[in-house]
Amino acid sequence: MFGKRILLGITGGIAAYKIAYLIRIFKKQEAEVKCIMTPASSDFISPVVVSTLSENQVSIEFWDKTTGKWNNHVDYALWADVLIIAPATMNTIGKMANGLCDNLLLATYFSMKKKTIIAPAMDLDMYRHPSFLRNMNILQGDGVSIIPAEEGELASGLNGEGRMAEPETIATFVNDFISESVVPKQTLLITAGPTFEHIDPVRYIGNHSSGKMGFAIAKAALAKGYKVHLVSGPTKEEIVHPNLMRHDVITANQMMEAVQSFWPNCDCGVFSAAVADYRPLSKSEEKIKKNEDVLDIKLTKNPDILSWASASRENHQKIIGFALETNNEEEYALKKLERKKLDMIVLNSTKDDQATFGGELNKVTIFDKTQNRIELPLQTKLNIGIELINLISKEQ
Ligand code: PMT
Repeated sequence: MFGKRILLGITGGIAAYKIAYLIRIFKKQEAEVKCIMTPASSDFISPVVVSTLSENQVSIEFWDKTTGKWNNHVDYALWADVLIIAPATMNTIGKMANGLCDNLLLATYFSMKKKTIIAPAMDLDMYRHPSFLRNMNILQGDGVSIIPAEEGELASGLNGEGRMAEPETIATFVNDFISESVVPKQTLLITAGPTFEHIDPVRYIGNHSSGKMGFAIAKAALAKGYKVHLVSGPTKEEIVHPNLMRHDVITANQMMEAVQSFWPNCDCGVFSAAVADYRPLSKSEEKIKKNEDVLDIKLTKNPDILSWASASRENHQKIIGFALETNNEEEYALKKLERKKLDMIVLNSTKDDQATFGGELNKVTIFDKTQNRIELPLQTKLNIGIELINLISKEQ
């Protein structure tokens, strides 16, 4: 980032307070930072903080009210290597998508010749509103890159998707954009979540996977510019993105069918789903009554989706598997890497209490086909997704 010119646009949302930290990250990386704030954003973060940390004068209006000096939006747009708008509110996104230009930041955006990246932040219902989705589609079509919002506590007190990505995540994304251009037009297939195997109309065999890891990989891939087929078992996770094609399934057989349809048109597959290895041999049509002391349910093997994808792949298709083991972790993971002829395998640590099914954190070690190991520290599943997608895009 040394000497790179980052133009940071700050709009009026609660997440603006985090921008102080983002500026510090860029400054530590020796980037040059200039900031334009919308008038509303100064209710959320003081221009004095922004100018002090960025070591540059901050512009808010088209002209300086004491000197009459014009803050030339064209000069800003020509100066910047990249414009990052964070937080990007629904209001600013709506105006960007529809050509409305009533402040200095918007005038600068419309004058940009280089990349614009936005990090949306808003409440969960706004984040899913059809009008917002339409505008995101337009911006994507206009070449704007979107760093998806994250899930968590929102300023409204609600919990859900809409939190601005953390400053570290935004910085990583911008670093990647600066160091290598975004990988365009490749398609990834990602499996996520558990599968549920029906016993009778009300019961199933399942596992504790929440889908968070797979969805985090999908978010990272979308942010990097990939198109994504996301085949997911039952989950509460959601992603809003124009390049996402989501296919919800329940059973391993359904997941297999979906993968068989989409895999031939993909460049890479990441198989993070926790697929049930067995399913009941037959599903009872009626709810099973509790007459027996011991109930025998015969199980039969499910198809191994990852093995099928690996066996049927074309030369250009990369394939990454996951491994979850409770003993002899490395040995078993490396055997899977070899047996299933994978390009990489991601081994979960089951020994760390904080790296859990359903939690935000995970700890993994990645092995490639030459058995090189990359041990990642405990971190958010989104950051692991970003690391993995970076490795994949370097390989392609
Ligand atoms: O969803 P979260 O709560 O965030 O949790 C994430 C996770 C722990 C589920 C995820 O990180 C993970 O490890 N997923 C794979 C778990 C697993 O099923 O591992 P396995 O060792 O049983 O399977 C090996 C590989 O074969 C996996 O890539 C799996 O997707 C694939 N597989 C397994 C069985 C099968 N019938 N078909 C498959 O494709």
